[in-house]
Amino acid sequence: MHIHRYERLWIWIGVATLGVFFVLLAYLGVSAGLAPPGHNWPIDPTKVYSTPPFDHPGLRRRADGSYDAYYVAQVFSWNPSTITIPVGAKVTFYVTSADVVHGFSIPDKDVNLEIMPGWVNSATHTFRTPGTFLIVCNQYCGIGHQGMFGKIIVK
Ligand code: CUA
Repeated sequence: MHIHRYERLWIWIGVATLGVFFVLLAYLGVSAGLAPPGHNWPIDPTKVYSTPPFDHPGLRRRADGSYDAYYVAQVFSWNPSTITIPVGAKVTFYVTSADVVHGFSIPDKDVNLEIMPGWVNSATHTFRTPGTFLIVCNQYCGIGHQGMFGKIIVK
């Protein structure tokens, strides 16, 4: 079978491009560490509910008046499901998963975290206006994914 010179050239360009992508993927995945984007640290996903502070998920008030909120994601809910905070509260969310990959997102706020089992991810947000804000899961995690939401009540 005859393959035209240009055809052969383009096949090799395609193969070389795939090779470059593979090397980059291997470098970023292994050398640079395979982790979700964000500030995060590892946790044993099989021991989430016995690892402090996730053995008692929920809201904690710091001495400076800001808050830490510890969340565990599992199909198909957030633990805690609802938190209530005062207007102006600065909250740092720490979120991990007890099972599969989830997404912790507060629509219209700058909080959008990928929650991978084995990792704790975090983000900080100050709630300046009163209202009820949803936490939605934005990673498909199974049959009940669309019902996986929580509430933040700011008043
Ligand atoms: Cu959790 Cu989708």
